[in-house]
Amino acid sequence: MKILVTGGAGFIGSNFVRYMLEVHPDYEVVNLDLLTYAGNLENLADLEGRDNYRFVRGDIADSGLLDEIFAEGLDGVVNFAAESHVDRSIEDPGHFLSTNILGTQALLEAARRYQVDRFLQISTDEVYGSLGGEGAFTEESPLAPNSPYSASKASADLLCRAYWKTYDLPVVVTRCSNNYGPYQFPEKLIPLFITNALADEPLPVYGDGLYVRDWIYVRDHCSALDRALHDGRAGEVYNVGADAEKTNLEITQTILAKLDKDAGLVRHVKDRPGHDRRYAIDSSKIKTELGWRPATPFPDGMADTIDWYLRNEPWWQKIKSGEYREYYERMYGNR
Ligand code: NAD
Ligand code: DAU
Repeated sequence: MKILVTGGAGFIGSNFVRYMLEVHPDYEVVNLDLLTYAGNLENLADLEGRDNYRFVRGDIADSGLLDEIFAEGLDGVVNFAAESHVDRSIEDPGHFLSTNILGTQALLEAARRYQVDRFLQISTDEVYGSLGGEGAFTEESPLAPNSPYSASKASADLLCRAYWKTYDLPVVVTRCSNNYGPYQFPEKLIPLFITNALADEPLPVYGDGLYVRDWIYVRDHCSALDRALHDGRAGEVYNVGADAEKTNLEITQTILAKLDKDAGLVRHVKDRPGHDRRYAIDSSKIKTELGWRPATPFPDGMADTIDWYLRNEPWWQKIKSGEYREYYERMYGNR
């Protein structure tokens, strides 16, 4: 099988490329990534030189480039490429619309023209909006996105549905909960707090810190995507999650305890506008239909993740210098 993975130099995409080449060593992977601030070829340094892996730098919205890639012949497309950080979408929504909506449409169009057998769209539980204290999102939950990021992802999901209904393009959409694990860019909660704690810098908890996210170890997300790519039914949506709801303060305490750091590092700062209170995902459909199960209990995944950041300090130190410092100052300087 030859697949195009877009956004393969980012957090989940790079874990997925590595996972696929490990589990399916005979597959061919083309990784198309624009290398925005979040894309990093160091995430895949161990795969350089393999003859069944190739990197192409470019934009998923570039139809000319897509023509060249698709003309080579592809069996499937896995679309991770996106602007993915809610806080950046609040600061500047424009890029989110061009990549997440128009970029996805350009990819769908190329897949339609070249009659690709499978298009897997990597979506998010954030398209469902926010939950109260009870219940979990199912695939039937209404779409009610609350940030420019989640609105752009919901738009992409609807375009996928339209390409299935109108053109019979065999699209499958997955909606996963919050991922954590190796190679996550240190602007997201878990890697930000691990790396700040290691540097004895404050941990900026938004609002009361009682917001709830449902966490999944990135490798478990990758195994779900492998199942959905091969056996997901065209036109269907599959939720993916690992039943690990935690408040942000619980995550903070886990990190501080594991690193033997003092709770005095915690700073409650101004809340995120439109902040979704709680996410929880019901994954019964992918479990029942595709036989998928997550393999990593939350405490094991967190211990492995913290160890990874301890062992890979040069990777994150390099990111946290340069442009990142300006971002950090903008986001947290006067908060
Ligand atoms: P990320 O920000 O780490 O990586 C995104 C990648 O996309 C980067 O390598 C970036 O260079 C690339 N990219 C951005 N714009 C591009 C463009 N126009 N053309 C080509 N490449 C481009 O994101 P992530 O956390 O790995 O998320 C990957 C996907 O999974 C996203 O679609 C996101 O919506 C979805 N998702 C993420 C999570 C999570 O918890 N991180 C959960 C559910 C779904
Ligand atoms: O649910 C899936 C989504 O999870 C993905 O679609 C997104 O791409 C991914 O970024 C993630 O979105 P969140 O907004 O949930 O992730 P983030 O790590 O930004 O924030 C997690 C929680 O932590 C959220 O309640 C906000 C809070 N937070 C975050 C940061 C960066 C803080 O309290 N302080 C912080 O500094």
